[in-house]
Amino acid sequence: MNTLSTSTETVRIDLADRSYDIVIGENLLGQHASYTDLPKASSALIVSNTTVAPLYEAALKQALKGHYKHIHTVHLPDGEAHKDWVTLNLIFDTLLGKACDRKTVLFALGGGVVGDMAGFAAASFMRGVPFVQIATTLLAQVDSSVGGKTAINHPMGKNMIGAFYQPQRVICDLAVLKTLPPRELSAGLAEIIKYGPIFDMAFFDWIEANIEPLKACNAMAMAHAVKRSCEIKAEVVGQDEREAGLRAILNFGHTFGHAIEAGLGYGKWLHGEAVGCGMVMASHLSEALGLIDASFVTRFTRLLDRAGLPIKGPVLDAKDNAGKYLALMLHDKKSVAGDIQFVLIEGPGRARVSQAPEAMVREVIDRCCA
Ligand code: NAD
Ligand code: GLY
Repeated sequence: MNTLSTSTETVRIDLADRSYDIVIGENLLGQHASYTDLPKASSALIVSNTTVAPLYEAALKQALKGHYKHIHTVHLPDGEAHKDWVTLNLIFDTLLGKACDRKTVLFALGGGVVGDMAGFAAASFMRGVPFVQIATTLLAQVDSSVGGKTAINHPMGKNMIGAFYQPQRVICDLAVLKTLPPRELSAGLAEIIKYGPIFDMAFFDWIEANIEPLKACNAMAMAHAVKRSCEIKAEVVGQDEREAGLRAILNFGHTFGHAIEAGLGYGKWLHGEAVGCGMVMASHLSEALGLIDASFVTRFTRLLDRAGLPIKGPVLDAKDNAGKYLALMLHDKKSVAGDIQFVLIEGPGRARVSQAPEAMVREVIDRCCA
């Protein structure tokens, strides 16, 4: 049996009996050794989509041979607009149609959309079967595949129906990022940049200095960015798996961002683009509340701009744009008893969750939308 190369790095998610490794390196996806020591089963189901499957499914299938007697596949339609009940059911139809059992292992081969849906299917099929995340977008490698949040969207709100359910392993194969369109790469950079102001300003400084190599998908730069992002997420999730408190800081920019995604219609802006722009809005709100200086907002916005991300929010309603944002933000999962909660920067590298006066939020939305 082959072994993984020495340049492969591992980040551990420490969650008692739900602990697992994130394995980071080049060309991992097609290696038999990437899948040893997973729960034993006679069958596996690869869940992918119509874009990723033609690129990587054959290599994965080959690597899984010998681990499983039967390897089934299902290809979902591509895109955030399909992160719904109808598409989720395609996974259940395949599992049942192929007579899969409660030991069948699901392999999510794709970005965050495939990962969130395959994870939710794994959480609920026969009350829970094992699953593995093979993250093929930058965003999935630095955020969505890690930490066990799984979900589908509802027309009234993003990720509203789902479960916390941890994978058995996460595979981050840096080589697959080479086929990612530049816009998707930028969307992933938004979630990497996020970790700076909320947790680690030294990492933020490093991203600022390395934004060009990152945009060019330089292997060394990418390896460090993915590893450090996973380390930070592992630390936060290890302390607060089910978002009783600390984990909410990972939603920096998401209150505004989810409103953008739902308001424009899912898929119009990429999730990472909406989060990036949402972080600009949340940093302006932090400044308005006197928590950070205008100079930091400028520096932060400049980095998002350099990463190729939109920094002006879309107008969702020509008559009452701020009112539309506010109505959409009420459906955010952090809202409590009708009060919208924002992740705010308390100072570079530190975040907290709190409310803000409506007039101030309206003023920020007006200032930040084109
Ligand atoms: P995505 O899954 O839609 O992937 C983006 C696009 O890239 C798709 O068209 C996909 O088919 C394509 N693609 C994927 N890998 C590719 C590759 N290697 N080469 C070429 N094309 C490839 O989007 P995403 O940005 O990965 O994920 C966004 C989703 O993740 C959102 O639904 C968001 O809510 C979710 N999310 C979840 C969490 C979590 O903790 N569970 C965290 C952040 C985001
Ligand atoms: N992406 C936010 C979280 O995993 O909590």
